[in-house]
Amino acid sequence: MNVDGTPFRSIWLNEDGWSVGIIDQTKLPHVFELTDLKTLEDAARAIEVMQVRGAPLIGATAAYGICLAMREDASDDALDAACARLARTRPTAINLNWAIDEMLGTLRNRPRDERLEAAYARAAEICDEDVETNRMIGVHGHDIIKTHADAKDGGRVNVLTHCNAGWLATVDWGTALSPIFQAHEASIDVHVWVDETRPRNQGAALTAWELNHHGVPHTIIVDNAGGHLMQHGEVDLCITGTDRTAANGDVANKIGTYLKALAAHDNGVPFYVALPSSTIDWTITDGVRDIPIEQRDATEVTRMNGRLADGTVVEVDIASPGSPAGNYAFDVTPARLVNGLITEKGVAEASSEGLLKLFPERASD
Ligand code: MRU
Repeated sequence: MNVDGTPFRSIWLNEDGWSVGIIDQTKLPHVFELTDLKTLEDAARAIEVMQVRGAPLIGATAAYGICLAMREDASDDALDAACARLARTRPTAINLNWAIDEMLGTLRNRPRDERLEAAYARAAEICDEDVETNRMIGVHGHDIIKTHADAKDGGRVNVLTHCNAGWLATVDWGTALSPIFQAHEASIDVHVWVDETRPRNQGAALTAWELNHHGVPHTIIVDNAGGHLMQHGEVDLCITGTDRTAANGDVANKIGTYLKALAAHDNGVPFYVALPSSTIDWTITDGVRDIPIEQRDATEVTRMNGRLADGTVVEVDIASPGSPAGNYAFDVTPARLVNGLITEKGVAEASSEGLLKLFPERASD
């Protein structure tokens, strides 16, 4: 997507042909800063400290992390160590494991001297596939938004989203935001309620930044405002992303998503989840029970960063000093609260039958 007229992806290969460029998302929305990944450790740290984040982008970064590791040592041991290091970075988003498996499948049985070139080629493919997949999610999701616009005789369609599932969370287009960008491009009057998404504020900092730079009407709301807006008919539909979707249609996403789905259910507001098929974990049949939920540092809850009037970015304490804090990063929304899963292949009912109808090749898993 464009940043001030310049097209950007969220990750790219630099002109030197080996180092990897990213947007440092910890600096947004205050500073748009690019940084380079030059080693496996740079890639792993970028995922851990959330310079890159969002399930698909985590996967793409891991793929390039393996390329950077292969530059230094293309042995079996180095390959295994690189995969193990990357797999430990974040536990919930399954695209990480998916991308590592894809890279292993490409490299494992290859002679050592072919591995480096093959790794860069597969990482580039993973990125290009992600862009096309997300574009298609947008095509299918656009049709849902259009149906709402038609039902309102072209009136404004209000979509609520949580966290950031835009182009910054993927290689391009985004998942939940792709339908919104495409509806906006098609001149549908679409407005987005952006949940701020505590504790790291991915909604207020990233989703709002993306929509702002693309000219899509939007309003930032506190995380607890959604239920009130739904009760008063101010939300036509919700679309969120997901970090891992179980084979039964349960979806893990940023903490707070479940409460939005409950409020949507209570108010008859359709709740959709947008995802590339690389986010489906076919080995898990009960997401609420089995999807691992990341717990992050308590300081993300007790501290916040912001920009002062003079432009300096500072971090401040916001909680009672010494009080303990819990930082559960994700929750799982049961399939029964999800009206549809918007994938690159079309919209599936959130159930094992619904998913298998779109992905029959997974029936034997
Ligand atoms: O902890 P984050 O910022 O990586 O979490 C991101 C989300 O929860 C997104 O909504 C998710 O990855 C959806 S995929 C684009």
